[in-house]
Amino acid sequence: MESAHILIGLSGSIAAFKIATLVSSLTKQGYEVRVIETKHAASFIGPLTLAALSHNEVYMDEFDGTNEAMIPHIELSRWADVFLIAPADANILAKAAHGLGDDLLSSTILAATCPMLAAPAMNVHMYENPATQANLQTLHERGWTIIDPAYGMLACQEAGRGRMAEPEELEKNIKAILENKAIAASVAQGDSSIDQKPLAGKRVVVSAGPTQESLDPVRFLSNHSSGKQGYAIARAARDLGAQVTLVSGPVSLEALQGVRMVPVVSALDLEKAMIEEARDADFIIMAAAVADYRFKDHHEQKMKKTGDVLTLELVKNPDILAGLGQNKKPGQILCGFAMETENLDTNARVKLESKNCDLLIANNLRTKGAGFQTDTNVVSLLFPDHTEHLGLQSKEALGHTILKTMLALQKGEDPDVIVR
Ligand code: PMT
Repeated sequence: MESAHILIGLSGSIAAFKIATLVSSLTKQGYEVRVIETKHAASFIGPLTLAALSHNEVYMDEFDGTNEAMIPHIELSRWADVFLIAPADANILAKAAHGLGDDLLSSTILAATCPMLAAPAMNVHMYENPATQANLQTLHERGWTIIDPAYGMLACQEAGRGRMAEPEELEKNIKAILENKAIAASVAQGDSSIDQKPLAGKRVVVSAGPTQESLDPVRFLSNHSSGKQGYAIARAARDLGAQVTLVSGPVSLEALQGVRMVPVVSALDLEKAMIEEARDADFIIMAAAVADYRFKDHHEQKMKKTGDVLTLELVKNPDILAGLGQNKKPGQILCGFAMETENLDTNARVKLESKNCDLLIANNLRTKGAGFQTDTNVVSLLFPDHTEHLGLQSKEALGHTILKTMLALQKGEDPDVIVR
């Protein structure tokens, strides 16, 4: 991918100066770089600098008559293998989220079909504004990679989140996307020289974290899941070359770069997202800790204290894993988890069979280093015809084992080669 086409769009922020370093580094490595600047961006870094560093003219306003291309936003969007918006100010994020195209940069975003990245840069209050957060969420759900800004002293002399990521971080993200594209293309051409990415071309869907079942605007029913196990599996799947979707309940972990994030809150939200995402997935892994019950009634206002005893009615949530098991597509491999406090293997085997899983990972909360919150886990792997017990290991390492085991199952190979 050394000659890959990288399109960079700058909007108005002082962080624009960092793009000179990025453009220079990419060009030196042999990438083809083209730059679009809004007129506000040009006040922070002149087009001459970026033209000299990219060895290409810098594109500014549409139809200004200075560009060779007849319709620059179409030409540029077709040309790009990857499109980074950096710095992405609140305005360009809003335009992108809402489909506005009133200048060259926003029109090119509208026309682009390549992978999109954005590196926000702005004042902390603008960044935290619910409108900006909603716009970022929208873009994220459409598959954009959002490169989170860092905390620090901002140009406006306020401290907070809003500093654009450093050029090295931007470069790393661009390369990760180009690498995934190259792998997908190699797989499409039947190239077998990519064994170091054994999940290239596979679609993996992972659920993680707890669900929250709301009672009123103040209270909810939930559990202690941190999301660490599910996130570790998603990270492993990404690193093994898969195209990954992570459906996550409310957790305090950072979103994963290079992974499509789908946030959910309740078990019903999770069910909807999983049914949608499972449609064309090769591997589905349900690591989320789903509430089995939700409140029968949801109260719009905070419930008032009444007598000494309060009885609340619960109704059963759907069993999402069982539903996915019933509707399994040919070739799809389904992995469930079982969280137990006693009779681990017996209870887990019932879940494996009743939910029609190909593989079930059983962990016991009473085992040291296993279960909720820890960075490690101790599990048994249950197959339809036997069980393998694994020792203490990191959740990340377990993620790799689970995915390679699922791959072996899909290929009809002996999964024990991976486990032992
Ligand atoms: O998030 P961490 O802090 O890292 O903790 C990891 C973990 C303990 C949450 C994880 O390792 C784990 O065990 N996840 C599954 C938790 C769980 O809900 O187990 P269960 O035995 O109650 O459910 C069995 C399976 O059915 C699970 O795959 C679960 O996702 C699924 N399920 C459960 C209930 C329900 N209504 N729908 C479901 O799909």
